[in-house]
Amino acid sequence: MTVLATSVFRPGLLDGQVALVTGGGTGIGFGISKLLAALGAHVVIASRKPAHLAQALEEITAAGGKASTVMLDVRDQERVAASVAEIVATHGRIDVLVNNAAGNFYAPSATLSPNAWRSVMEIDLYGTFYCSQAVYPIMAQQGGGRIISTSMTLHYRGWPLMAHATAAKAGVDALTRTLAVEWAPQRIRVNAIAPGPIPTEGVRKAFAPPADSGVPDVFAATERHMEAYAAKGIPLGRWGTPEDIANMVAFLASPAGDWITGSIFVIDGGEWLAKPSA
Ligand code: COA
Repeated sequence: MTVLATSVFRPGLLDGQVALVTGGGTGIGFGISKLLAALGAHVVIASRKPAHLAQALEEITAAGGKASTVMLDVRDQERVAASVAEIVATHGRIDVLVNNAAGNFYAPSATLSPNAWRSVMEIDLYGTFYCSQAVYPIMAQQGGGRIISTSMTLHYRGWPLMAHATAAKAGVDALTRTLAVEWAPQRIRVNAIAPGPIPTEGVRKAFAPPADSGVPDVFAATERHMEAYAAKGIPLGRWGTPEDIANMVAFLASPAGDWITGSIFVIDGGEWLAKPSA
């Protein structure tokens, strides 16, 4: 696959393995799906949207990767359990779960509707738990597995207009540490990644602040603004890419991560350490 031409990982690193990537059809999730497939895994891409699934499947298989799709809303615990059962019936195993699906938007806490709060909580936190719980018996029976969940950095200091997402991701961090210890006897490694600013379409949409909120739009449309922010606001001087995140996922999914569990890896070019408080 073309991805391999630029990858630091060796071809065939994940041969014979099965990976489930939620939200794996677009943006960061697609970057992860592509790299895991390029390294030899069969990737099951999960998404709520058939169009995202079809496009991702086409691109990966056209490049010679192995992939299939499942239409799934991670908020639906019964569907999650049924989808995992279907994957196991077809492939016999699940080695890697990437809890990438997330929902986010800026909104004032004072007027956030119960459904808005619930939507983000259910996608980011409940969905991560439902998927992790569903793969547990499979991984335990196989003698191990790897769960990699997606966190963020905004809750390290507090981030106005993101009470729902920051609370959910703080929960993901707690869940990661707890499951890591609880499931270590089954040799299931549980880790998380905390991506910094990656200007994918979905992230741009989620992080567009309401007009007049006073929150800076770091993904403002002009290239000049983007470049200026990267130069000033990101110590390593550039925006992140889905590949930056996918590389850490591949590392954790590989034997290089064999003694790593309960860790949360910030991948952000140093942004959160340097960012002025909101
Ligand atoms: N401000 C305030 N409330 C918002 C909102 C916003 N920008 N966007 C959604 N909501 C509210 C809705 O009004 C609704 O609440 P209500 O029923 O009380 O009106 C609730 O959230 C659910 O919205 P809905 O669009 O029906 O939800 P969904 O379940 O289809 O999708 C999201 C939820 C979070 C995925 C969706 O808002 C979204 O697409 N976000 C941007 C994309 C994204 O998050 N990508 C991830 C990048 S990190």
